[in-house]
Amino acid sequence: MKGFVLWFTGLSSSGKSVIADRVAEKLKERGLKIERLDGDIVRKSLTKDLGFSENDRNENIKRVTFVAKLLSRNDVGVIASFISPYREIRDHVRKEVTNFVEIYTKCPLDVCIQRDPKGLYKKALNGEIENFTGVSHPYEEPENPEILLETDKESVEESVEKVIKKMREMGMLSKNPKYL
Ligand code: ADX
Repeated sequence: MKGFVLWFTGLSSSGKSVIADRVAEKLKERGLKIERLDGDIVRKSLTKDLGFSENDRNENIKRVTFVAKLLSRNDVGVIASFISPYREIRDHVRKEVTNFVEIYTKCPLDVCIQRDPKGLYKKALNGEIENFTGVSHPYEEPENPEILLETDKESVEESVEKVIKKMREMGMLSKNPKYL
């Protein structure tokens, strides 16, 4: 297997982590070497010192890119989920790593606000959290992602299937559905 980086980007609560976890699980079941990198987890260790200003977010992504580069060039499949709101830094990841696949979990802000599993939108709207993506900090939508997931319209399983199908089309997996 060749290394790759599936890069999930999108608003908080748009479904990045849930779909990424499920894709990782499916690929691992098939014996692929997979590592997950997730914003909420990485920010507790590798990028613990960083906040949510434009500079800090870009530094967060740069450090993650360094790790993703090492893994992907050694034929590990990396599944990363980060808001990564800036186009320029996502393009930086694309240039640095092996086989970058941008996956946009598109979801209207009002739906994300309704979901709000961590109660963060509520706090952000009350002014208790600064620089919150979609509320008081920008999100630049991908213009041409390899995969577009509309998470307000499709189920998690449908989104997962779209990702697997595209990976197969891109030659990253066997074309025979029997094997995945
Ligand atoms: S990124 O912008 O630097 O890519 P990242 O994906 O690592 O963000 O982290 C986002 C997570 O941090 C969210 O899922 C949420 O739990 C938490 N968080 C805390 N404060 C903020 C904020 N101001 N904006 C967005 N997410 C925040």
